[in-house]
Amino acid sequence: METKEKVLSYLEAHKGEFVCGDDIAMDLGLTHSGVWKTMQELKIEGHEIVALRKKGYCLLTNPDSLSSVGIHKYLNDDTRDLRIDVFPKLISTNNYARSKAYSGEDEGYVVLAKAQTGGKGRRGRSFFSPSDSGLYMSLLLRPQLAPNETVKLTAVAAVAVCEAIEALSDDKASIKWVNDIFVDGKKVCGILTESSFLNGSDKMDYAIVGIGINVTEPSNGFPNEIKDIAGHVNLTDTGGKNKLAAEILNRFMNYYKNNIDCTEKYRERNFAIGKNVAVITATDTKKAVVVGVDDDYRLIVQYDNGINDHLYSGEISIKIKD
Ligand code: BTN
Repeated sequence: METKEKVLSYLEAHKGEFVCGDDIAMDLGLTHSGVWKTMQELKIEGHEIVALRKKGYCLLTNPDSLSSVGIHKYLNDDTRDLRIDVFPKLISTNNYARSKAYSGEDEGYVVLAKAQTGGKGRRGRSFFSPSDSGLYMSLLLRPQLAPNETVKLTAVAAVAVCEAIEALSDDKASIKWVNDIFVDGKKVCGILTESSFLNGSDKMDYAIVGIGINVTEPSNGFPNEIKDIAGHVNLTDTGGKNKLAAEILNRFMNYYKNNIDCTEKYRERNFAIGKNVAVITATDTKKAVVVGVDDDYRLIVQYDNGINDHLYSGEISIKIKD
């Protein structure tokens, strides 16, 4: 057998997992540079091999299927160190990430599930998460933010998701304050950020940014309750969900790590500006016009009596009337 075939069958025997270059070299009697050169030859032949520093080489099982290795392939230098787990099914990726946070996991942990049985949305709603038609992902962060700043993470994630969708499709993505992404008038993505503070203080312990995207039409369609408002993105890029996840993480982590102000990008994509809305609180509903978004991502509305208000996302939602 020539070297290339030996290396390929070695990788095949460990398909979907990383094997370190030292082991390959020792087991097959090759030099380090021999292993490296052979990997390049195999890649040129079209074999999907991912090489990661400190981890080694991995032959992808199915490049289209969501996997940690598949996502890593599209990460950039700044995100390559993210620790990613992918599960066939979880109750909720946000809950799973929270359990990791409790057990001391550092910032930069990402968990995805191919399906969720108890996907959560804002305000106690559920998030429809059928197998294989969506991307369900949560990112664990440990930022120093005050309670009323948690919204920044949601907003930056919303910008990152819109940009990723547009990079991989011909869709035009816009944001419905505060956490929904729309394409062609339908909701294609929801974001749920959950945070926890140390001993009831204002010091954030962790935040989980959960992102759910409808990537394709579910095989049995959307349930009746959401079928009029739910839509899906139309990816034209062949990188599929792995690339979509990576493109979101690349963008989000750049904004987050470099503390880049995204308010302008968020404003530009906000489709409610200038529209009549109903402002819904726990106690009443008032008519207003959306005037803008302030620098703290609060929605600025003007009520019928001419008075302006800056709305926090926490307890308020808006319903667009035209
Ligand atoms: C909303 O529409 O109100 C927000 C939906 C957020 C859904 C995502 S899917 C991944 C993560 N895990 C969850 O349980 N929820 C978020």
